Amino acid sequence: MSMGQKITFFGFGSQGRAQALNARDSGWKVEVFLRPESRRVADAQKEKLEVITDPIAAAKGAHVAILLVPDTDQPEFYKTVLEPHLPKEASLVFAHGFNIHFKQITPRHDLDCLLVAPALQGDGLRQNYLVQEAVPILTAISQDATDRAYRLVEDLAGAIGGKGTRVIPTTFKEETETDLFAEQTLTCGGLNQLIKAGFDTLVDAGYNPDIAYYCCLKEMKALAESIYRHGIQGMRGRISGTARYGDLTRGPRVIDEKVRDTMKVILDEICSGKFCEELLKDKNAGWPILNGRLKEEDEHLIEKVRNRIEK
Ligand SMILES: NC(=O)c1ccc[n+]([C@@H]2O[C@H](COP(=O)([O-])OP(=O)(O)OC[C@H]3O[C@@H](n4cnc5c(N)ncnc54)[C@H](OP(=O)(O)O)[C@@H]3O)[C@@H](O)[C@H]2O)c1
Repeated sequence: MSMGQKITFFGFGSQGRAQALNARDSGWKVEVFLRPESRRVADAQKEKLEVITDPIAAAKGAHVAILLVPDTDQPEFYKTVLEPHLPKEASLVFAHGFNIHFKQITPRHDLDCLLVAPALQGDGLRQNYLVQEAVPILTAISQDATDRAYRLVEDLAGAIGGKGTRVIPTTFKEETETDLFAEQTLTCGGLNQLIKAGFDTLVDAGYNPDIAYYCCLKEMKALAESIYRHGIQGMRGRISGTARYGDLTRGPRVIDEKVRDTMKVILDEICSGKFCEELLKDKNAGWPILNGRLKEEDEHLIEKVRNRIEK
């Protein structure tokens, strides 16, 4: 495998767009599969990418297939499109270990099965690539059918992450469990609830919701950026002495032992497969829990304040 050979990206969402553009700009020949009705066909064509809308033709020509459709759609897509049509000894590449680790997909024995998982959202992956900033990419191999998988994993990480790529070897299990844990308790679930809890506390105490919105939500950006660049202690060195004292004496009271105990329970639910089972049950029922919760969150005052301020 070398630059000049073709990579086929199945899906052009958050990761698909970033990975396909980065690989193309790294000099690889890139093809993107999208369903013909997808509004993203025009986006991909505008980026001058080659788009294919026939799934069977796309699979038949994919010697390196990067599967970037949503995790919960991957098993059916694999079963109906990829398993019967990928060429012999093709390489099947995932950006998240979920379906391999939880055995929703069992790849054909003649295929390589690789994990090339950027530890970044699609937008961040593309932005970092454009400014040539190092991107951490977790890699693993669960099947090396061709004896080329180790080389390919490094080549692909370089292609989608560029020069500064930090390749971190892991396993499908470790990537899956740590990624689910972090998004549930911290980067998505935990953070969103923390912002809302702070906002609600101020508004309930009679403060102006606009000010609560700015100090509980908008200020996150600069502080997250500072932690990203300088670490936690480095960030503490850059805030005021008063903020630092409040951080160190009040922070542990907010994120207390009870929160840590809940984190352990959530990690157990991930590792035992309970979360996976619950997610797939909701998907198979047409997402009643997910859609119900999204609707509730739409009604929260913080969304109304945001819509007014940011319109
Ligand atoms: N989001 C992230 O930043 C991130 C980070 C690391 C890893 N990952 C992993 O990357 C993978 C892709 O996630 P994503 O967030 O990029 O997904 P996404 O933004 O939801 O995009 C999904 C893409 O797949 C297409 N698609 C959806 N259902 C399909 C189906 N049944 N058949 C064919 N195409 C279908 C969509 O096409 P349409 O245009 O037709 O809707 C869209 O182009 C997942 O394994 C995820 O865990 C994501």
